[in-house]
Amino acid sequence: MLVAQKFSNLRWGSIAQWWLVFLAALLPLVLLVDALLANRLGADPAKTIVDELGTWALIFLWLTLAITPARRLFNWRKPLLFRRMLGLYAFFYAVLHLVSVGTFILGWRADLIVREVTERPYVIAGFVAFLLLMPLAVTSTRGWQTRLGPKWRSLHRLVYPASVLVLLHFVWLIRASYAEALLYGLLLAFLLGIRLYYTRNWRTR
Ligand code: HEM
Repeated sequence: MLVAQKFSNLRWGSIAQWWLVFLAALLPLVLLVDALLANRLGADPAKTIVDELGTWALIFLWLTLAITPARRLFNWRKPLLFRRMLGLYAFFYAVLHLVSVGTFILGWRADLIVREVTERPYVIAGFVAFLLLMPLAVTSTRGWQTRLGPKWRSLHRLVYPASVLVLLHFVWLIRASYAEALLYGLLLAFLLGIRLYYTRNWRTR
């Protein structure tokens, strides 16, 4: 009886936490829309929207990458519950980022889109990163995980080159301070470094 009670408590606790994280992850979008409606987006609202959405896509991607290292280093298992959701949020903000670039910067003009995607290195890096993230979002369901079997893990390793390309995309478009990019770069190096360390250790054992 006690065990059943504890289990059901845990389950409800986990469900509540899942919803809490789900709603918290929507907050940047809500705040952005609120600032837009209240005319608080500064002199260039379009640029602010593009930059904010891009930054949140990056942050959610980095958070997704932090879940496994958190388990390995501190034995935190709870965040595993949110990994798929955080990955999908990264993709969601990336889609909104692209839609805002298409709408506010390129005006959905085919000639401009082709020129940007073929000529500007930072756009090429962002575009390839987005292409790599796409199959990960599509195959994130349990159904795809079962259908692909061990190939699912290999496919989802695409998140590593995708994150490096996102960092490149960010670094290439910097015009002033490199401090923020350095912070994201160091974080990514740390997160990928831990994975590499544990993979090597596991292989040699
Ligand atoms: C076809 C793909 C993409 C295009 C065309 C694109 C385009 C852009 C543009 C035009 C900017 C603003 C440049 C400026 O400030 O003048 C930008 C910024 C940014 N993008 Fe992208 N992007 C793409 C994909 C991505 C993806 C997949 C991510 C992340 C997952 C991302 C993250 C960012 C970040 C973090 C910024 C900088 C925001 C800041 O300056 O605060 N982008 N992108």
